[in-house]
Parts: sequence; structure tokens; C-alpha cells
Amino acid sequence: MPEVNRQITLAARPAGMPKLTDFKLVELLVPSPKPGEMLVRVLYLSVDPYMRGRMNDVKSYAPPVQIGEVMGAGAVGKVLASENPQFRAGDIVEGFFGWQQYAISDGKGVRKIDPKLAPISTALSVLGMPGLTAYFGLLEIGKPRSGETVVVSGAAGAVGSIVGQIAKIQGCRVVGIAGSDQKVAWLREELGFDGAFNYKTTSDYVAKLDELCPKGVDVYFDNVGGSITDAVFRVINTGARIVVCGQIAQYNAEKPETGPRLLGHLIVKQARAEGFLVFQFAARYAEGLKPMAEWLRAGKLKYREQFVDGIENAPRAFIGMLQGENTGKQLVRVARE
Ligand SMILES: NC(=O)c1ccc[n+]([C@@H]2O[C@H](COP(=O)([O-])OP(=O)(O)OC[C@H]3O[C@@H](n4cnc5c(N)ncnc54)[C@H](OP(=O)(O)O)[C@@H]3O)[C@@H](O)[C@H]2O)c1
Repeated sequence: MPEVNRQITLAARPAGMPKLTDFKLVELLVPSPKPGEMLVRVLYLSVDPYMRGRMNDVKSYAPPVQIGEVMGAGAVGKVLASENPQFRAGDIVEGFFGWQQYAISDGKGVRKIDPKLAPISTALSVLGMPGLTAYFGLLEIGKPRSGETVVVSGAAGAVGSIVGQIAKIQGCRVVGIAGSDQKVAWLREELGFDGAFNYKTTSDYVAKLDELCPKGVDVYFDNVGGSITDAVFRVINTGARIVVCGQIAQYNAEKPETGPRLLGHLIVKQARAEGFLVFQFAARYAEGLKPMAEWLRAGKLKYREQFVDGIENAPRAFIGMLQGENTGKQLVRVARE
């Protein structure tokens, strides 16, 4: 049995973009599971944009991480010892185990992963929370129809890269917006997007959208907000659906931005903008995972995962993701399978 558990805790509430010094590596003894609990060795953990919001001392849909508390996170691991009749040593499981090497869990919110279905890390990417966000957000909120034009921002990330491919499967024209030429090439050449552009080197977003979306925009899947979203509002069609998934351009803002006020476009275009949380579809996850796994097997859905090794590098991976260093899903490999 292992003796030492290394964890990453929140050391300070970040101002603006988080810094490495906002986190602390601590070492504790590995606890033993009590009746009803299990001990999990974490193999992969996730770094996600929502974690930035939880570092602020503000109320949201989940309580903030406290100073000195281990960073909460989705993770995949192996059960080492179990006092919970629903899990056995050797099971591969996905749950909210946090940025640490070993976790005690009572099994609530934990799902067993079938290692034969796909690489187990996909339980944190295409066959996990980001994939389900793409699936339900696009299909249930965006309701794309064949022949329509779908624009997705944050297009080369964990959610966006899957959104675009599901839209292609629905028979849509798909245009992605991402932050580097390599990302744009990946979207067009490997994922089959019809068009894509680099927002960091494009000066006139509206002109670019007009060029790439000659029939206007029917569905906008918004992962970023800010000036990219301001531009898309100007090119939506009558009856457009705007899926408000994320606003990452604002997550590190130190004071509220004053942008153009564009809700008038929704009136003129009789359009709908709707926010959602993937958790609202929790009762339907199995329904979403089934077609996703089939598309994956059939080669219709591709995914990319990017790994950083070692629990001590979780903060670096998190900050890198916020700065756009990831293509596809950013994960931390905590231990070899
Ligand atoms: N509603 C929900 O239930 C739900 C669930 C999961 C995720 N989300 C949201 O979905 C979005 C994507 O999440 P993800 O996990 O797939 O992350 P991700 O896209 O894999 O990683 C974040 C990406 O955001 C981009 N970015 C960072 N700052 C930006 C800025 N100022 N302007 C434009 N793009 C910026 C970067 O790519 P570039 O190189 O392109 O800049 C970076 O790679 C996030 O906003 C997240 O909060 C929502």
C-alpha cells in the first residue's frame, strides 16, 4: 500500500490569470477506506476552465474551493481497496477525485469505466463531461438541422472540437474559430470543418464570418464570449439559436467588461440565446454516450488528448490550458496504468 499522498491545494485566490504560486503541493498520509468507502489511485486528472471560477470567493452553481483545500477535479483511477460493496479492487472508475494521487470515495457520483470500450482517459474527454457538453448543448439547445450553418468558438478545445464534428454528422456546414494556425489546420484537415480562422491574426471577424458563412449563421455554439461573440451576433440568421456554453474570454477579467450591447439582434432576427449546464442532462448521460461511442468506433468522431506528466504539474497544465496551449482535451497523467 502506498504511504504518501501528494495533493495540489489552492494557496491563494488568483487575481487575473492564475500563477503557479496560487497553488501548493502538500504531502499527507494515504488514508484507509472506512466501511462504505474505497481508496482510488488516480491515473488521469482533468484541468477544466470552470475551475477558474471556483477559485473566486463567489457563489455559483457550485461552492468555491477554500484556501488550503485540494482542487476539485474529475479524474479516472483504479480502485486499490474497497469497503463499498458496489466496487472491487481493480475496477477502473471516474469520479470527482481532485488534484491528488489517492482519493477516498464513498462511491457517490462514481461510474465504472469499461477499459475495452476505449482508452480510459476518454472518460474525461470525448466519452466524458466535455463530450457530453458538446452532445447535449449542440443537439438539445442548438437543434441544428441538415444544411444549416453552425459556427463554434473555442473550436479546437475539448468541447468545441466535438461540437463541430457532431454538427458535421448532422449534415451542417461547420465553421470554427480558434487561436492558432496549427489549430485551424487541424480543424480543417483532420476534423473536416468546412472553414476555420485564427482569431488572433484576423482583424475583421465580421468580414471573415461573412466570407466563411455565405448563408449566414443558424447555430452559434459559444465557448468564449467577448469580441468573437460580438461579431457572430452581427451575422446570425432569422430564427438562429445561440448556445451559451462558456465565456472563457472573461474568466480572468479583474473587472466587468463593457461591450457592445447586442441583444437587439435577437429581436430583429427572432433568435434565441440559451445558457446551459451539462449537469442538467445528468439523467440522460447514457443516452448521449451510446451514439458518441458508436461514432468513435465508426471513425466519424475523432479526438485528441494532450498529456502533462506528474501531479506536481497540474497547475502548469491548468494555466497552459487557459492560455490556449492545448489542442483537444488537456489532461494530467498522474500515474502509469
Ligand atoms: N456549460 C457547461 O456545462 C460547460 C461544460 C464544459 C465546458 N464549458 C465551457 O466550454 C468552454 C470550453 O471548455 P473546454 O473544456 O473545451 O476547454 P478547452 O476549449 O479545451 O480549453 C480552453 C480554450 O479556450 C481558449 N481561450 C482561452 N482564452 C480565450 C480567449 N480570451 N478568447 C478565446 N478563446 C480563448 C483557448 O484556445 P485558443 O487557442 O483557441 O484561444 C483554450 O485552449 C469553456 O468556456 C468552458 O467553461 C461549459
